Formats: sequence, structure tokens, C-alpha cells
Amino acid sequence: MAQVLLRNLFKRFDKTTAVNNLTLDIKDREFMVLVGPSGCGKTTALRMIAGLEEVSDGEILIGERVVNNVSPKDRDIAMVFQNYALYPHMTVFENMAFGLKLRKVPKPDIQKRVTDAAALLGIEVLLQRRPGQLSGGQRQRVALGRAIVREPQVFLMDEPLSNLDAKLRVQTRAELIKLHRRLGITTVYVTHDQVEAMTMGDRIAVMQGGVLQQCAPPMEIYQHPVNMFVAGFIGTPSMNFLKATLNKNGGGYAIDCGAFTVSAPAAQSGKLEAYVGKPVILGVRPADIFDKNLKNPIEAAEGNTVRTQVDVSEPMGDIITLYLTAGVHSLVATVDAETQAKDGQALDVLFDLAKTHLFDPETEQAIY
Ligand SMILES: Nc1ncnc2c1ncn2[C@@H]1O[C@H](COP(=O)(O)OP(=O)(O)OP(=O)(O)O)[C@@H](O)[C@H]1O
Ligand SMILES: [Mg+2]
Repeated sequence: MAQVLLRNLFKRFDKTTAVNNLTLDIKDREFMVLVGPSGCGKTTALRMIAGLEEVSDGEILIGERVVNNVSPKDRDIAMVFQNYALYPHMTVFENMAFGLKLRKVPKPDIQKRVTDAAALLGIEVLLQRRPGQLSGGQRQRVALGRAIVREPQVFLMDEPLSNLDAKLRVQTRAELIKLHRRLGITTVYVTHDQVEAMTMGDRIAVMQGGVLQQCAPPMEIYQHPVNMFVAGFIGTPSMNFLKATLNKNGGGYAIDCGAFTVSAPAAQSGKLEAYVGKPVILGVRPADIFDKNLKNPIEAAEGNTVRTQVDVSEPMGDIITLYLTAGVHSLVATVDAETQAKDGQALDVLFDLAKTHLFDPETEQAIY
């Protein structure tokens, strides 16, 4: 078991800085997810930890040891890639045993480790089959098994579920979490899928353009994103962003969106004086917008009610996604399926003000 520390890590290719001053303390036994859009430097960061990519600047520690100049095979890590190529001519057992054989692990040990890992993953009955005789999900588990038998200090996983169909992905995701709870091996898991990040990570590190934006537990990232990028990247459908102006309103503050005005939560007043009269961006998640005509967890009040026009409604089963217009603003809301909202008609909606966000349009940083 081991912590992984990244200290001011840089990776420069010719013109691109793929990883830009990344500092991250990954705790012993932690499941850390690196998430971000394509090209943001996730794989590069992981490959530097693995030793497959040279570090341009900065330091990597695994356990107490600086590993910058330690070769991949001596770093005590096991990596699972998106393309987990198994050897087609070997059985599942041989595939899982291969790395141990290379390391000259004694035969009885190999036997025990492979059987134990196979039991853990529920693939005991497949040990004598060849990869060609397995489903995609089974092959995925063999690839995991191959990593587990190594009994590494750290697992590095790069989009290991992306080749699976949607249902199997959800299932394997849950298996991986269970496995992590049981083995407690420090894991760095790369994905571009924010749902995977939210459901799997003890903490999530959100990256963009090689730069770490925020690292925190999933709910903190969701509830308190530090900037517009994180706010928009985490959560589906994405947070609505509305251009507005902040005004003083008696003892409180009002956010003037043109066609409508909502109140700033009283609890945030202390942060707002400097922004009076200035442009701001109001952020509200689709799930925090309610159909006024239904029974809601929040009461209608003057500062939280918005008259909208329903453009399109999409039934999703338990919820309905509404595409709304209010003045110049387009809004997405996910409301209870009981809604009677009809396309082309007016609808009053409520914003759960306590859950709204405000951003500075210049810096894109969160004001609250
Ligand atoms: N060997 C290389 N030479 C030059 N540029 C590279 C090299 N490898 C990666 N890059 C660049 O570094 C940046 C980060 O790439 P990386 O593969 O780490 O992204 P990623 O976050 O894993 O993306 P994806 O989600 O698409 O896998 C990209 O701009 C990429 O083009
Ligand atoms: Mg990648």
C-alpha cells in the first residue's frame, strides 16, 4: 500500500504542455479519479506515474520514494489500459500468470494468486478458456485479474471500461468499487466520463488543458465547483449559465437576468458588495429548477419564480427534461414526470436559490 504524490509535475511535448504544474496528494488506499475532456492530459499524467513517459519537470513519489528515475517494472504498479490486449494463444490462467512467470515467482505462489484473483472476480470457470472464447466483460475481468495478481502498491487504470456496453459498464463499475474496498489498493483511475468519476472516486481531480481545476470529494465538486469549467463539466444535464447583473435590493441583493430577477441567497450577502452594478453569471442546475404547479420541496416566493416558455419536453421516465426560454435565456430543467407542462405553453418555474451559484464572468471563478 502506498501514497502517490505528484509535485509540480510538467510534461511538455514539442508545442503542447500536456500536464501543467500538477500537484496532487493521493492518499494510501484512496481511489482517485482523474477526469476531464479529451486531450486534457489525463493519460499523460498516468503514464508519467507508471514511468512510461519521462517527466519534463517536477517530482513523483510512490510511498516515500522519489521514482522519477525508477524504471516502470520497479515502481510496484500495475496498469490496466483501455486496450487491455490479452495474449490470444494463451488461456485465461496463462494470461493472468504471465507477468508473475516473468518475475520468476515460484509456481505454487502463481497458482494460488491466480486462483484467488479468479475467485475474487468470479471467473474461476473461465481459467482454461482462451480470450477468443470470452465476452467483452469477461475479457475485461481477465485484464483486471492480470493486474490484481501482481499485488501492486498502486493500480493505474486508463478508461478500463470504455470498451464495454452501457449496461456492462455500470455493472463492472460497481464490481471495481467493491474490489477496491476489499483490496484497499491505492488507485488512480482515468476517465472522461463524469458519471464514472462521481460514482467511483473517493476524490475527483478535474483537469482542463493540462491544468488541475479542482480536487475534492464528488459531492463537494458537485455542490461547490470552484469555477465555471468544473460547474459545467460535472453534472448532467449541464448547469445552466445565465448572464446577469447584480443589484442591491433593500437589505439584500438581486440578480437581474433581464426578463426576470431572482434574489441572491441571504447567506451569501457577505461576498457580494464588490459586485454591485457589475455583470455576473448565475448558475443553476437543471435538477434545482421546479415546476411551480407541483408539490415541491421549496415554496414559491417573489425572488425565486420565473416565467418561462416551454420549447420542448422530453420524457425520461421518472423525470421530464424541459427545454425552456425566459427572455434571451435558454434553460434546461429536469422536473417530476407529473408535470403538465406542454410544448409552446407558458410555465412558471422555481429556482432553489440556496443551490444556485454565481460566477465572475471575467475570471470564471465562483463567487459562491
Ligand atoms: N507523444 C506525444 N507527442 C506530442 N503530443 C502528445 C503526445 N501524447 C499526448 N500529446 C498531447 O498531449 C495532450 C494530452 O494528451 P493525453 O493523451 O494525456 O489526453 P487525455 O486527457 O488522456 O485525452 P483522452 O480523453 O482523449 O484520452 C494532447 O494535446 C495530446 O495531443
Ligand atoms: Mg487518454
